[in-house]
Amino acid sequence: MSGKRPRVIVTRRLPAPVEEQVAREFDAQLNPEDRPLDGPGLGQALRTADALLCTVTDRITADVLATEPLKTRILANFGVGFNNIDVAAAKQRGVVVTNTPEVLTDDTADDAVMLMFMVARRAGEGERHVRAGAWTGWRPTHMLGTRVSGKTLGLVGMGRIARAVARRARQGFGMRVLFHDPYPPAPEVVAELGVEARASVDDVVREADFVSLHCPATPETRHLIDARRLKLMKPTAFLINTARGDVVDEQALVAALEARTIAGAALDVYEREPAVSPALLAMENVVLLPHLGSATQETRVAMGLRALDNLKAFFAGAQPRDRVA
Ligand code: DGY
Repeated sequence: MSGKRPRVIVTRRLPAPVEEQVAREFDAQLNPEDRPLDGPGLGQALRTADALLCTVTDRITADVLATEPLKTRILANFGVGFNNIDVAAAKQRGVVVTNTPEVLTDDTADDAVMLMFMVARRAGEGERHVRAGAWTGWRPTHMLGTRVSGKTLGLVGMGRIARAVARRARQGFGMRVLFHDPYPPAPEVVAELGVEARASVDDVVREADFVSLHCPATPETRHLIDARRLKLMKPTAFLINTARGDVVDEQALVAALEARTIAGAALDVYEREPAVSPALLAMENVVLLPHLGSATQETRVAMGLRALDNLKAFFAGAQPRDRVA
């Protein structure tokens, strides 16, 4: 990089080592108070910065991208998911979009496995019980959950995170793992993972004891898990969502849980995040986490540095490694 340093607006507070490095490399505007930018705020950022280091909760819509005069040439999204950005509109306006794959795979897979155990073994409920002072002591019939080991896990999507979940489930817990992905991995990958392909999402949800979602949020996957597919699930089965909230019709999920046509759900993401359907808050057989999939110190630093690498490559005139548009 030569001459004047590019102006980068960082839309949210980032881990300190990342902020330090962004400030060293660029003419950076940080957000120490961590105030989210609304539509007009994002529009203003696009008019004044060469780049935005934005996050998965910044809604960079076609309207926002229609701002004039548009100065920004790259949106370096801090997150593997980029459904917060209207990629077609960005492309049309000549704005490059990058994401941060790979670095969050293991932590997000761990999160999915944690949720599976939490809901099956009633961990949230048990925690609340102890904290409420309601525990009267060990007894053979107290708070019996469902065994995870040896059961069938159904993965919807078979990208990096799903594969990491499959490894944990197969090697750690002796689970049988089924999956459906319209773009399945190569046969040798399927064989190495020891997983079984199914022809449709319906087949996966029908057979699984645990259904875990690992597909991106796209118009095609919106409400992929709807009332009809929830009805296909076994009444003893659990739904795990660490992907994106709108892959599940949350209202239909509430209805299925109320009618007990499924056994429970464990959610990290929500359709109207950060709002959560009030009915879910009252259900003991539901685990609710605040979008923690990648939330470890190690991963959030790695995500920031990866976004920064994408910015550096772009402004050095090279192809950013994680260009998605
Ligand atoms: C992502 O990277 O898309 C995650 O949802 C953020 O944790």
